[in-house]
Amino acid sequence: MAGRLAGRHIIVTGAASGMGRAIATLFAAEGAKVALFDRDAKRLEEVARETGQTAIEVNVADEASVNAAVRQAADALGALDGVVNAAGILREQPFDLTTAAIYDDLMGVNLRGPFLVSQAALPELRKAPSATIVNIASNAALNPHPGLAVYSATKAGLVALSQAMAKELGPGIRVNAVCPGIIRTPMTANMWEQGGIGEQAVEATIALKRPGQPEEIAEVCLFLTAEQSSFVSAGVLAVNGGALY
Ligand SMILES: NC(=O)c1ccc[n+]([C@@H]2O[C@H](COP(=O)([O-])OP(=O)(O)OC[C@H]3O[C@@H](n4cnc5c(N)ncnc54)[C@H](O)[C@@H]3O)[C@@H](O)[C@H]2O)c1
Repeated sequence: MAGRLAGRHIIVTGAASGMGRAIATLFAAEGAKVALFDRDAKRLEEVARETGQTAIEVNVADEASVNAAVRQAADALGALDGVVNAAGILREQPFDLTTAAIYDDLMGVNLRGPFLVSQAALPELRKAPSATIVNIASNAALNPHPGLAVYSATKAGLVALSQAMAKELGPGIRVNAVCPGIIRTPMTANMWEQGGIGEQAVEATIALKRPGQPEEIAEVCLFLTAEQSSFVSAGVLAVNGGALY
């Protein structure tokens, strides 16, 4: 099949929703075989039906679950030469109300998750002549937000992890981080509900005066995964419509 990812074998985490779903859909349309990772089995099956790709239920924060899922992905796809870590959670809380349990949840999914998935995939990635890892961090990594102290820390950690991995894993594996601004996905749906701060936040903080769409992040991940970005590694790419702060 023709396409910019023809012949590639790629894990996309968080593939049941939002950006992960858009990434998996675009990658499949570009000829990749995709292993769809998510803990939401029902929505994952929908995406698998729509894209014709392989659904694998997994909790990215759990080592045994990740190891089994990555083995299953390598068997089902026949090889692995790419990972996109898009699974993530958001918990908005003032710092003094952020419990240790919330801290553990955020760190578990947003930082431990990409660490576990990337590490479990490494033996397969190393067999490929050139492999890629793309980690979805956040604008909050570059500009930590009040109310999102620990979330911001997980994403800043993910940027550092990506850059250090890129330096260690080259030349065979390229690793890059993407830092999205406000994107319209189920994660941010409450911003556009009645009384939500969506319009106000967009007006005050985004030069382009609109939120991003998950498909616009998927296009950036496609670039960073395809050969077109062959000299890009340890990159940190802000995709935020022009941050006004
Ligand atoms: N939406 C935004 O404005 C925005 C901005 C910056 C960064 N991000 C980041 O982008 C990524 C994608 O976010 P989104 O907006 O598409 O969110 P989303 O809520 O639409 O999708 C996240 C997916 O991750 C899955 N997931 C959560 N925990 C998991 C776990 N333990 N194991 C497996 N799967 C799990 C969920 O089931 C869901 O399908 C996240 O890492 C998020 O932090 C989002």
